[in-house]
Amino acid sequence: MLLESSYLPSIQTTRIHNPFTEHLYLARLDLLPYPASGNKWFKLKYNLLEAQRLGLDTLITFGGAYSNHLYATAEAAHHVGFKSIGIVRGEAHEPLNDTLQHCVNKGMQFFYLSREEYRKKTDAAFMNAWLEKHQVPKGFLIPEGGSNSFAVQGVAELIDLLPNDTDIVATACGTGATMTGLITGLKPHQEAWGFATLKGADFLMQDIQQLLSTSTNRPWKILLDYHFGGYAKTPDELIAFVQQFKKEQGVLLDPIYNSKLLFGLFDLAAKGLLPKDKKIVALHTGGLQAWDGLPEKKRIFLSE
Ligand SMILES: Cc1ncc(COP(=O)(O)O)c(C=O)c1O
Repeated sequence: MLLESSYLPSIQTTRIHNPFTEHLYLARLDLLPYPASGNKWFKLKYNLLEAQRLGLDTLITFGGAYSNHLYATAEAAHHVGFKSIGIVRGEAHEPLNDTLQHCVNKGMQFFYLSREEYRKKTDAAFMNAWLEKHQVPKGFLIPEGGSNSFAVQGVAELIDLLPNDTDIVATACGTGATMTGLITGLKPHQEAWGFATLKGADFLMQDIQQLLSTSTNRPWKILLDYHFGGYAKTPDELIAFVQQFKKEQGVLLDPIYNSKLLFGLFDLAAKGLLPKDKKIVALHTGGLQAWDGLPEKKRIFLSE
């Protein structure tokens, strides 16, 4: 049974071919079968256990129409026999896109919040009143992106699944919860690098500090220069990189997170800015279903 605190998948880590460094590796979380695929299982595991502890069998969470998190929550809930409710930003659109249809197939029930209301989703008083007014069944509330202290606890366990000689763990950052978990789990000789996918993500440092339950002396840093214009921006240069990466490494990256992480690492390698003697392990956190929201660009890969 997957819903046990002891369940940990094993992760394949392979070397990335790069002309400027021999020390770059990719940890293939994307290859883990659902519900454990990507970073999401690690973020959700202790949320599920906490819901179970509280005697709740329904997860309620938030996301946009192409949310990896809604997708993963529907999968995880279905897998352990929980119900799930997705509170979706914006209006309902029929037919549902592939992401939302997948959620429905896994039993997720939707409620829609207008964009204006969605901005208030972290306001507890507003949200409680809204949930009551719309008669949303009672359940365990998980914030957008699954980013809370339970997520941090789950991701911290990931470090033990990476090769022991890992010096630097690198990840793409959205909310920063994955990065916070990595920092929390670091061993004494290790450091963590986070690549921001949002523009103007100076808030990340603050959010990470807040999510860190105890102060840490493990080194970590956030790189702010590889957002490519912002969260859902996928300029041609980035798409060309993904295409090249797939050709050379045989690995498909998602257009929102891991493409920016790997582009950043390749750029730093080319500029001689990666430490020569340190093993860097980049996490491939999955998110490949995001290509469904970019059918024109996805076609580039399907045609190859
Ligand atoms: C595929 C993927 N990678 C990385 C991240 C970044 O995670 P976080 O929001 O914890 O920074 C996300 C968002 O959850 C994601 O969907």
